[in-house]
Amino acid sequence: MTTAISAATGLRVDNVTLSYTGEPVIDRLSLDIRPGEILVLTGPSGCGKSTVLRALAGLLRPQSGRILADGTPVTTTSRDRAVVFQDNALLPWRTVRGNIELALKLRGEPRTHRRALAERWIEEIGLSGFADYLPKSLSGGMRQRVQLARGLAGAPRAVMMDEPFGALDTQTRATMQRLLIDTWRTHPTTIVFVTHDVDEALLLGDRVAVLGKSGQRLRLLLDIPEPREPADRRALREQIVAAL
Ligand SMILES: Nc1ncnc2c1ncn2[C@@H]1O[C@H](COP(=O)(O)OP(=O)(O)OP(=O)(O)O)[C@@H](O)[C@H]1O
Ligand SMILES: [Mg+2]
Repeated sequence: MTTAISAATGLRVDNVTLSYTGEPVIDRLSLDIRPGEILVLTGPSGCGKSTVLRALAGLLRPQSGRILADGTPVTTTSRDRAVVFQDNALLPWRTVRGNIELALKLRGEPRTHRRALAERWIEEIGLSGFADYLPKSLSGGMRQRVQLARGLAGAPRAVMMDEPFGALDTQTRATMQRLLIDTWRTHPTTIVFVTHDVDEALLLGDRVAVLGKSGQRLRLLLDIPEPREPADRRALREQIVAAL
C-alpha cells in the first residue's frame, strides 16, 4: 500500500523518554515512521500511545532523546504535522464550510480559492448539503468526517490520529475507515494512527507497532503485507493479541 512520497514526512522517534511528572511514561522508545505510510500504534490502555502522539505533534518535549521530522528536531507544533483526536472540537461558531476554509486559510490558500476547495472537500466526505450546518447540528459521525477533512485540507506532511473513530458505531466506523484510506490515497501523507482495536489496526496499517505496558519499549513491529488474505490476517492478529 505504501509508496515513498516526497510530500510526506518521515518521522523518527530516537531513544525518547517522555514524562509528565518526572516518572517516565515512555522509556527510551525508538521507532522510525516511513514517509507516506500508515503506522498504527496500539497497546493497552495507559501504555503511552497518546503521549507518543503528542510528542510527534510537538505538544510534548522529550525528557531525553529526539523526535525528528525529515531529520530536523521537532520542538514545536507545525502545520506540517496535523492532529486529529477523537473529538478535538471543531470551532462551534463556524459552519462545516467555515471550519474547512479555516484550515485552507492557515495553509495560505488565497480567499478566492478557499470556497471552491472547501466545497470539494465537503463533497469528498459525503456532506454535500451540510456545508452551512454548525457542528452542533451534525451527528458524531458527520463531525468526525469534518475533522478528517479539516485535518487533511491543510495538506499536512504528517497526521497524528488518536482513536479518531473510537466513539463511532460499527457501521459509521467502517465508512470512516474506507474514507480515510481513499482520502489518504488521493492526498498522500504520513499517518500515525492510534487505536486499541486490533481489526482496525490490521485494516489500516502498513505496519503495526505494539507498545508494552507502562514505559516498556516496543513489544512488536509488524509489516502487514498486501494483499491481506484472511489466513494471513488471522496469523497477524494472533501475533498482535499475544503482544498486547
Ligand atoms: N497530562 C498528564 N499528566 C500526567 N500524567 C499523564 C498525563 N497524560 C497522561 N498521563 C499518564 O501517562 C500515562 C500514559 O497515558 P496515555 O494517555 O499516553 O496512554 P494511552 O496509551 O493513550 O491510553 P488510552 O488507551 O487509555 O488512551 C498514563 O499513566 C497517564 O496516567
Ligand atoms: Mg490515549
